[in-house]
Amino acid sequence: MPLFSLEAVRSKRVLGWLSWHLRRRRRYRPAVLEALLADLAQTAPDHLAITGDLTQIALEPEFREAAAWLARFGSPDRVHAIPGNHDAYVAVPSERGWQLWSEYLASDRGEGDGYPSVRVRGEIALVGICTAQPTPPLAATGRVGRDQLTRLDGVLERLGAAGLCRVLLIHHPPVAGLTSRRRSLRDAPALGEVLRRRGAELVLHGHLHRTTLASLPGPERPVPVIGVPSASHAGPDPARCAAYHLYDIEGSRGRFAIRRRVRAWDPAIGRFAARGSNELLSAPD
Ligand SMILES: [Fe+2]
Repeated sequence: MPLFSLEAVRSKRVLGWLSWHLRRRRRYRPAVLEALLADLAQTAPDHLAITGDLTQIALEPEFREAAAWLARFGSPDRVHAIPGNHDAYVAVPSERGWQLWSEYLASDRGEGDGYPSVRVRGEIALVGICTAQPTPPLAATGRVGRDQLTRLDGVLERLGAAGLCRVLLIHHPPVAGLTSRRRSLRDAPALGEVLRRRGAELVLHGHLHRTTLASLPGPERPVPVIGVPSASHAGPDPARCAAYHLYDIEGSRGRFAIRRRVRAWDPAIGRFAARGSNELLSAPD
């Protein structure tokens, strides 16, 4: 893990604190998150995937508050979270940080510790990748790292051979050109090589606070790569308004169809509502 001077850590947190109080606090609202919870009670997905940035500057009270929100989203066996760069804003002792969410970050029993985190639910395998690491002030980059990439290669091969629908969760977008170098995934090309070799059925990411639809090459067909907006954003830009995506996955033995339905915050009615759908993957003949 990179080490930075005490001064750099202080200035990074001061900048993050100012960003929150001057700008972000007005846009990211607990009331929108409450509305999202109410909507989830209606749509009732089988499993939730949360792609990071649950805190702003990785303070212990923020981790505790996020743990309370996670508990409201569901029990750890049906909510799979991964950390984002804000959750590693500066280096924090584990017991005052990620450990407070450990059950929500964890793999299924028997899948080992650390990343990738693997959960299998029926025909679907959720594979969580960690790209979060402390960075200098004004940087928001991420990195998978060589060791995690090696493990990921083996995990994707094993789950693919088992005929499961492999859904990757990653905070930073793994597709070049979606964000600036300052906010990018530094080893995106190496991750792209693993996907090209082993394939996956779907990649979900956060970080950009807007919907993005992209793809990466796979061994047989392109892998859909989907970015989701923030879960609590109520700012003036409709493209960045809070939303979540519902994925309907059908199929078995390596043949899957995936459809995405969008549920977005509608300020006019004060709740979440349907905002379109599209087919991401059709089962091969
Ligand atoms: Fe982020």
